[in-house]
Amino acid sequence: MKTVTHRVYNFNPGPAMLPFPVLEKIQQELLNYRETGMSVMEMTHRCKEFEAILENAKTLLKSLLVIPENYEILFLPGGARLQFAMIPMNLYLEGKPVDVLHTGEWSKQAIAELKKLTQYRLAGSTEDLMFTRLPDAHEIKLSANASYVHLVSNNTIYGTQWKTYPETGDVPLIGDMTSDILSRGVNVSKFGLIFASAQKNLGIAGVTIVIIRKDLLGRSKENLPVMLNYAEQVKGNSLVNTAPTFPIYVSGLVLEWVRDQGGVAAIQKANEEKAGILYDLIDASSLYQGTVRKQDRSMMNVVFVLRKGGEDLEKIFDKEASKNGLAGLKGHRSVGGFRASIYNAMLVEGVKALADFMKDFERKHA
Ligand SMILES: Cc1ncc(COP(=O)(O)O)c(C=O)c1O
Repeated sequence: MKTVTHRVYNFNPGPAMLPFPVLEKIQQELLNYRETGMSVMEMTHRCKEFEAILENAKTLLKSLLVIPENYEILFLPGGARLQFAMIPMNLYLEGKPVDVLHTGEWSKQAIAELKKLTQYRLAGSTEDLMFTRLPDAHEIKLSANASYVHLVSNNTIYGTQWKTYPETGDVPLIGDMTSDILSRGVNVSKFGLIFASAQKNLGIAGVTIVIIRKDLLGRSKENLPVMLNYAEQVKGNSLVNTAPTFPIYVSGLVLEWVRDQGGVAAIQKANEEKAGILYDLIDASSLYQGTVRKQDRSMMNVVFVLRKGGEDLEKIFDKEASKNGLAGLKGHRSVGGFRASIYNAMLVEGVKALADFMKDFERKHA
């Protein structure tokens, strides 16, 4: 096999870096998957080999996230964004407005779809604070009559993350965990539905996992298009159409890798260490400034700006970081500055390399 000579530390927000052993496994199995004489990419989704791939991914996800028996797991096409439409189409109950916790760009996009499909209310919003923090408990006003509550667990662009989720009583809580699934332990039974597209912590673009409590399947009306109907997708075991087979295969490999690291608890510990390195550095620095209130800081996306030097110094930072093999650090255009996305696959060494670079840059430019 060819040796790899040029790999950078990849801080892209998603699609994001994959664990290296996963890439190696893909390479090994690419041309001839387990003596089938073909690639997973060429395989029918109805054969026993692919069925085993799907079952393996499901079983691993179930055990790693400790998903209770009364939940179904789906692997769907269309990205997390399709869920912004599928959720209201399936779960909205007439006359019961959806409660939304508006904490950034991805709740904004979810609201845009809700506007077309259902009634909704803002149960909390930090838009007037430029999403630099999450709503405090006393600022959240939930209705006992809502169809469900929509929440974004980790706000990828602004770098905020819920540490504890609000209590929603009998109203199902829906969690967009696109950018923090499997990064820390989560009590699945608090949620009616969890969804996450794969390209950050779960593999590559093209598949989205949906974990849905079984009783909610009763809300999917028969007149919905088959592909957009959770109950139909469950009946068809995510194989209603030609499923995104290769992305599902890669998700299975990523889940095996998570298991081999020691599971979600071990991953969480590493994530806490990685985030701690960067936030400690930022807090001690006279050049870097975090943009988020401390208790709401994300373990996945560390957002910071430069206190001085303006765009000129930002450009130099960018250029020098690239030269040092540190890629994908530019902040989202709506926030500016920088964002280090340190998902599960980012190694502690990668974060230490970034921290060393940042300290060195500060010494030179402070
Ligand atoms: C929290 C969150 N939700 C939803 C999305 C949209 O995901 P997709 O591009 O898979 O539709 C993203 C994308 O970055 C995200 O970070």
